[in-house]
Amino acid sequence: MSTDYTLEQFLADTRATIKAKGVPSGLAEVRGHLEKLLHNPELLTKHLGDPPPYTRLTTIGHDPETDVHVLVHGREKGSTSAVHDHGPCWVVYGNYKNPTRMRRWRRLDDGSRPGYAELELQKEFLNEPGQAAVFAVGDIHSIEFGDDTFFIRVTGGDVETKQTLKFDVAKKTVEIADRAQGQR
Ligand SMILES: [Fe+2]
Repeated sequence: MSTDYTLEQFLADTRATIKAKGVPSGLAEVRGHLEKLLHNPELLTKHLGDPPPYTRLTTIGHDPETDVHVLVHGREKGSTSAVHDHGPCWVVYGNYKNPTRMRRWRRLDDGSRPGYAELELQKEFLNEPGQAAVFAVGDIHSIEFGDDTFFIRVTGGDVETKQTLKFDVAKKTVEIADRAQGQR
């Protein structure tokens, strides 16, 4: 019998952590659960098929009690995202196959001027397969990855139905992206 850490165990452990510690205090522990899940070699074949197909976004798990979602993104071609936040949601981001270059950004202005935002790069690192990174509500980041990259996002709330902020660092602008309308 396989002893691999399953999606069901992940959802149960994450529910227990959130109930016991709350958010954001429990997010570091949720990251640990996700890293265990990322080490399950059969995770994607079990939930997506064998071989796992590329997918823009597939939800493989949801816990109604905590509204935690588990999303798989499998990208055939490399890409770079806009600099963004996640609206009212927290996100734990883990790489399954190939790394993502992760950039965290700090907002310097106070947000009082409509459409204006000034950001500076706070931290840049490679999120390697098997590793996960936590983004609390309000954290700002961008991602860059190469071909054939699979990553998993665990979100508190359904971020893809929410309004989030999208930044242009060079132009010093910010706009609202309505993800339910496919804007991101
Ligand atoms: Fe994000």
